[in-house]
Amino acid sequence: MEQTKKILPKKLLHGGDYNPDQWLSYPEVLEEDVELMKKANVNCVTLGVFAWSRLEPEEGRFDFEWLEKTIDRLYAQGIYTILATPTGAMPHWLTQKYEEVRKVEPNGQRRFHGQRHNFCPSSPIMRQKMGEIDRALSARFGRHPGVIAWHLSNEYGGDGRASDCHCPYCQAAFREWLKNRYQTLDALNHAWWTSFWSNIYTDWEQIHSPSELGEHTMHGLKLDWRRFSSERLLDFCKAEVEAVRTNSEIPALTNMMGAFPTLDYFKWAKELDVVSLDNYPCWHMQESDVDMAIASSFNHTLTRSLKKQPYLLMESAPSMVNWMPRNTLKRPGMHELSSLQAIAHGSNSVQYFQWRKSRGSSEKYHGAVVDHKNGGDTRVFRDVSRLGERLSQISDKVVKTCNQPKVAIVFDWENRWAVDDAQAVVIPFDYRSRWMDYYKVFWEMGIDVDIIDMEDDLSDYRLVVAPVNYMYRGDYIKNVKRFVERGGTYVTTYWSGEVDDTDLCFLGSHPLREVLGIRTEEIDVKPAHVKNTVSYDGENYVIKGLCALVHAESAEVLSVYENDFYAGYPALTKNKYGEGCAYFIASENEIAFLWAFCQDVAEEAQVTCSLKARLPYGVTVSERKPLGSDESLAKKAEAGGSLWFVQNFNAYEVEIELEEEYRDIETREVWSGKRTLAAYQCLILEEML
Ligand code: GLA
Ligand code: ZN
Repeated sequence: MEQTKKILPKKLLHGGDYNPDQWLSYPEVLEEDVELMKKANVNCVTLGVFAWSRLEPEEGRFDFEWLEKTIDRLYAQGIYTILATPTGAMPHWLTQKYEEVRKVEPNGQRRFHGQRHNFCPSSPIMRQKMGEIDRALSARFGRHPGVIAWHLSNEYGGDGRASDCHCPYCQAAFREWLKNRYQTLDALNHAWWTSFWSNIYTDWEQIHSPSELGEHTMHGLKLDWRRFSSERLLDFCKAEVEAVRTNSEIPALTNMMGAFPTLDYFKWAKELDVVSLDNYPCWHMQESDVDMAIASSFNHTLTRSLKKQPYLLMESAPSMVNWMPRNTLKRPGMHELSSLQAIAHGSNSVQYFQWRKSRGSSEKYHGAVVDHKNGGDTRVFRDVSRLGERLSQISDKVVKTCNQPKVAIVFDWENRWAVDDAQAVVIPFDYRSRWMDYYKVFWEMGIDVDIIDMEDDLSDYRLVVAPVNYMYRGDYIKNVKRFVERGGTYVTTYWSGEVDDTDLCFLGSHPLREVLGIRTEEIDVKPAHVKNTVSYDGENYVIKGLCALVHAESAEVLSVYENDFYAGYPALTKNKYGEGCAYFIASENEIAFLWAFCQDVAEEAQVTCSLKARLPYGVTVSERKPLGSDESLAKKAEAGGSLWFVQNFNAYEVEIELEEEYRDIETREVWSGKRTLAAYQCLILEEML
C-alpha cells in the first residue's frame, strides 16, 4: 500500500497506547495481544511512547528490532501504527551524563532524574539527542506502510508542574526572543511600564524569568514569559517535526490536553498536520453526569476548532483512571456514549490509554482494554469490542463529514494569561467559568460552536460570543468592527477591552466604543451581602458578582440594574452597527439569564439547532456536515448528508420529539415524533434524502 502524503487513512481509528516494550520477556503476552486486538476491533495502536531506554539502551546504540517486529506483526493483521518519538521520558544515561537536559525550577534548582515531560527545551544536547533518535526512527520506519503518523513526544509540558524551564539557556533564549519582539530596550521598558517600582532596564542581561525569589508581579514580563515558554517548547516540537520528516511524509501530531493552561494550542496547531486530544472526564462523580459531559464536550470542541477539521481522540480511559481521589468505574453505557461524544464533535478516532495494564509501577491500576487477568473475558473488553464494531459500521459515512458551526466563542490563551495576572476585581479571577457558562447554554440548545482565539477569521460565523475579552490583541478590534458592519451579531461582556497586547491599559475610551454604543466607566464587585438583580423579558435574574458601570450612547438599553447606587444604569445594551449589532452584558448574571438571552440572540442570528427536535435536559445534538470534495470544509455547501449525534447523558431514559423524519444510520429505521432514548444512549441520525 502506498502512503498518502500527510493524510490519515479514511476510516475511523480504534485502539490506543500499546507498550510491548514492557513485555518483551513475555512472548505469550505479545502473541495474545494481537489476537485480542482483532477481537476488540482495534485497527490502530500508538507505539513507542516513553520507550527511549529500550530504543537506545546506551548512548548511540539503537535497538529497533523489537519495534520492527511489532509493527510488522500488527500490519500483517491490518492494524496501523502511530509511531511515537520517545522524548516524553528521558533515559538515565542521558540525564546522568548531561545535566543540562534536566529542567531548572524558578528558584534556580535543577531537577533530579525522573518522571516525564521534564526536559529543558533549549538544551543543545537534548536537541541533538532527540534529533539522533528521531532521525533514526524516521530512517527505519518513515516509509513503512503500516506507520500512518508520527506522535511527537507525549503531552508536551504536561508534567503537572510547569511547562517552563529557568536554566541559563532558556534565560538567554528569552532575551533573544524579547530583542526580536521589541528591538530596543526603550520599547520594552515602555511596554512593561518599568518606571513603576524602579524597574527600568539598561542592559538586556538584567532581564530574568519571573520567580518568587525576584520579580514576579510585572504584568508585561509575566505575559511575555508565558508566551515565550509556550513558543519555546513549540520550537522543540518543530525540531522534532523536522527530524521525523527526514525520511517520511506522513502526518505529524502530538497529543494535546484541551484547555491546558500553559501552552497556546492555537499557535501549536499551525505547526502540526493533525491535532489530537487526551481526554479524561471524571464520570459519575456527581449524581448527574451532565456538567461533566459539557466540560468534556468543551475539550472536544476546542480541539476540533484548532484546525477546524477532523481530529483524533488520542487517549481516553476505557474504564477508570488511577489518579483521582476516588477512581470510579465507568457505568454500563458510558463507555460507548463518551466515545461517541468524541466522534460527534469531529474526532475520527477513539484511542485509549492504554491497551494492556502494566504489571508494575505507577499506572498498574490505571484502566486498560486488557486487564491483568481474564484476557478478553471482561466487561471492559466486551464494551470496547462492541464500540469497535459500531465504529467500523459507521466509519464510511462519518469520515466524509465534520462539524461546521456558525457560532463562535472567543477563548484566547494570551487573554487568559493576562486575566490570571491582572490583580484586579476578583483574585483569582475564574475566567474558565465565564467561557464555560456560554458554552453550556449552547450545548443545552444543541447548537454546535467553534472555539476561536483573537487571531481567527470571524467571517464564517453569524454569531460571535466574546466573554471577558480583557485583552484585545492583533487585528481583533478591526476584525470585530468588520464582522459587525457586515451583518454579524457580537456579544461581549464586562471586563472586556481593558488592555492592549502588551498588557497596557487602553487610554481614552473603550476600543469598541462605536460598535457597542456605550461609554464604560467603573467596575464593581458586588458585596456578597448586597442583592442586586436585572430583569430580562419579564423575568428577574440575580447578579452573581461583577457589575460594569456604563453609559449608553447610541446603544439601546434592554435591561438596567435594579438596586444599589447604580440602580437604573444599563445592565444589557444592544447597538446597531453597520448591517449587524453588538450586545454588551454589563453584569455577571446567574446562568438562567444567559439561557434566556442566548436563546433569543441565537434565533435573531438564525443559528438554531438544525435537528428539528425538542430535547430534554441532559440531551444534546452535534451535527457533522459533509466535507468538500477537496477535503476542506464545504462551509457554503447546502446542508445534505449531515449526521446528527443525539446524546443522552442522563442515567435514565428520556423522550425526545422529532419534528421531521430522520433515519437511524445504523438500524435504518425511520423516526419522527416521540422517541425514547435509553440511559446514556447515542443515536446517529441522517436526513431522509
Ligand atoms: C496521560 C499520559 C498517559 C497516562 C495517562 C493516565 O494522558 O499521556 O501516558 O499517564 O495520562 O491517565
Ligand atoms: Zn532550560
